[in-house]
Amino acid sequence: MRTIICDLTRDQLAATGVPFDEVVCREELLAARDCTGCFGCWVRTPGRCVLPDSLCDLPSLVARTDELWLFSANAFGGLSPLVKRALERSIGYLHPGFRVTGGALHHRLRSDRAPSLRVWLYGPSSETERACLGRIAEANATNLGATLGRVRFPGDWRDAGGEKDGPVVDPPAPPESRVSAPPRRVALVNASPRGDGSATAHLLGDLAEALGVYARMANMNAPELVDVPCPRAGAADAEELSGCDSVLLGYPLYVDAPPSGLVDLLVRWRDSVEPGTRVYALANMGFYEPEQILPSFLVIENFCAAAGARWMGGVAVGGGGMTLATEGTPRMGMLRRPVSEAIDRLIAAIRSGTGAGVDPVRPAVPRLVYRLAAEAQWRRMARESGANLDAAPWL
Ligand SMILES: Cc1cc2nc3c(=O)[nH]c(=O)nc-3n(C[C@H](O)[C@H](O)[C@H](O)COP(=O)(O)O)c2cc1C
Repeated sequence: MRTIICDLTRDQLAATGVPFDEVVCREELLAARDCTGCFGCWVRTPGRCVLPDSLCDLPSLVARTDELWLFSANAFGGLSPLVKRALERSIGYLHPGFRVTGGALHHRLRSDRAPSLRVWLYGPSSETERACLGRIAEANATNLGATLGRVRFPGDWRDAGGEKDGPVVDPPAPPESRVSAPPRRVALVNASPRGDGSATAHLLGDLAEALGVYARMANMNAPELVDVPCPRAGAADAEELSGCDSVLLGYPLYVDAPPSGLVDLLVRWRDSVEPGTRVYALANMGFYEPEQILPSFLVIENFCAAAGARWMGGVAVGGGGMTLATEGTPRMGMLRRPVSEAIDRLIAAIRSGTGAGVDPVRPAVPRLVYRLAAEAQWRRMARESGANLDAAPWL
């Protein structure tokens, strides 16, 4: 069975002439909500999203699918916010427990079926955007237990589903920066759908507090910090970023990329970015190996190239599940030290207006300990809601 998930309308998809068995089009995607990050599809109604809208049965649809085809507008070498919305709403397809594949932690599959995955990223795209999508699609396939077919880059949506790539487009030359160092106004974007109770909120809060302390110790003025909550598509206005010479994007990794709400903000911000705005990232993730975050940094780097901003690098926190569990422990204690030191390095870069490099941070505990603790937590949450973790509507 072939399922197409696309951000084209039904009429546009029909115009491509591509055959399919099941489809999720722009109409359903627009009528649905973004994932809220509640994990109800694992611990309350395993295999089914708890949000009652047109996407709640996506995990079952993916489970029945042999060929999963994605047609998406190019969003800086990643999937568009709408196609991303669908993938995020489908994670109930996976089991919350872990497996190790290719030396890295991933979720267990609920069955041995191996669907195939193909992706068409339509619209103009640069070489670096194509390389970025290649890495994200590979990571998606690994996580879904799917085999990845050829990824294509048609110049126009009408060629989605075909075997033609459009011409490679060079990103615009970087404009003259109008932004001076050191920073005066720094936006702290919290793009976690879990908002104030998220690991992202904690990491950004820690950074804000430490930044103030370091400025006082150095007898210098701290830059003004502007909180910009962006829990879902449309929640934050690109206007809120105007006048900020530096922007720190805090987010959780969602399906190997920035969450759809953040991609949506980047798409809307693109045309009003002050040339030379410095963009940093502070990302965390559920799996252990922080290297899995790095393709999402490429999306942000491509955004900067397209928008005339400056990509300044960022911190990638592996084992994000530890963040809230250890927040009551000392900042430089054994459990928090690696992350706290990385945040301090990021603060130094932001304060001096310099690059932060790419800084992956491993959790302070061995992988097995992290895995056992996380799995025990999923079991406890399922028990509390009277759910069976191993059940799913299609099993
Ligand atoms: C829809 C969804 C997709 C996710 N995808 C990934 C992923 O691809 N890789 C990963 O390591 N963690 C993934 N996670 C886990 C989150 O990154 C992790 O729980 C993170 O710590 C949440 O951070 P927050 O509290 O700041 O939102 C996903 C979670 C959700 C809800």
